[in-house]
Amino acid sequence: MGHSAAIWDYKAAMEISKDWNGIDHVLLRNPQGASARISLHGGQVISWKNDQGEELLFTSSKAIFKPPKAMRGGVPICFPQFGNAGSLEQHGFARNKLWAVDDDPPPLPPNDSVGKSLVDLLLKPSEEDLKFWPHRVSLAASGNLILISRVRNINGKPFSFSFAYHTYLSVSDISEVRIEGLETLDYLDNLHQRERFTEQGDALTFETEVDRIYLNSPNAIAVLDHERKRTYVIRKEGLPDIVVWNPWEKKSKSMVDFGDEEYKQMVCVDGAVIEKPITLKPGEEWTGRLEISAVPSSFCSENLENTGL
Ligand code: BG6
Repeated sequence: MGHSAAIWDYKAAMEISKDWNGIDHVLLRNPQGASARISLHGGQVISWKNDQGEELLFTSSKAIFKPPKAMRGGVPICFPQFGNAGSLEQHGFARNKLWAVDDDPPPLPPNDSVGKSLVDLLLKPSEEDLKFWPHRVSLAASGNLILISRVRNINGKPFSFSFAYHTYLSVSDISEVRIEGLETLDYLDNLHQRERFTEQGDALTFETEVDRIYLNSPNAIAVLDHERKRTYVIRKEGLPDIVVWNPWEKKSKSMVDFGDEEYKQMVCVDGAVIEKPITLKPGEEWTGRLEISAVPSSFCSENLENTGL
């Protein structure tokens, strides 16, 4: 686009517009032309494009963009419950609530601010839910998408929660996808009442429905899309678990907001904290951070070794 990062006005690179439900959308752009779009409904990232304008997140062609439910795709946030393991609605209430832009967020380290287009969001505390929840979505000069969530317990009682960035990655063909970094880990299988199994030595590939919570995973994992020669590298902090979900054929047909064949074009890989929920005493704070890059696979295989994968 011909803009140099030095003169790029990161503040001006954030635009707010309304969708057809009157809900604010925030558009972030970087100097190279990458972009991210966030809906204040759920604080959900609904689009992330590279500098070629290619969409990197999956959104179903049958997605319903109408509150109160989160739309099928992008990065809905599961909080304070994951799945149906608890008394709340499936995946918790945060993805179904209206968030606000936070004009006065608690400070983050300079590395998380300088040279990034970003927006700070806030899930406002309500009477039954006395926690502040500042959340930042940013787009780096490199095009990486960075999500940072902080939960502060401002209630007088301890507060426990689970959390997941339910990330719908766009892939060309699920049968050509491989996930590296989960080998030999234990996982809880959602298709077997969360029974515990151990992954064998090979990278994870897909030939049927997969719905698992991998435990204590490394802080970097890679999702390789062989056909598109693209690799997503997911780096995380404060998020020990990784959820991997693909509904495959039968479950796809049972979801009203998902096309029958669309399971081929997506895989959910979530940085999460599920097995051992976080418990915050009054006044305590937790931070979770996820950074996703989408790189050509050739570039990636040379560099993954340096990240300890
Ligand atoms: C996954 C869960 O993370 O989300 C699955 O492990 C679930 O069990 C899927 O089906 C989708 O959930 P939802 O509520 O968005 O339809």
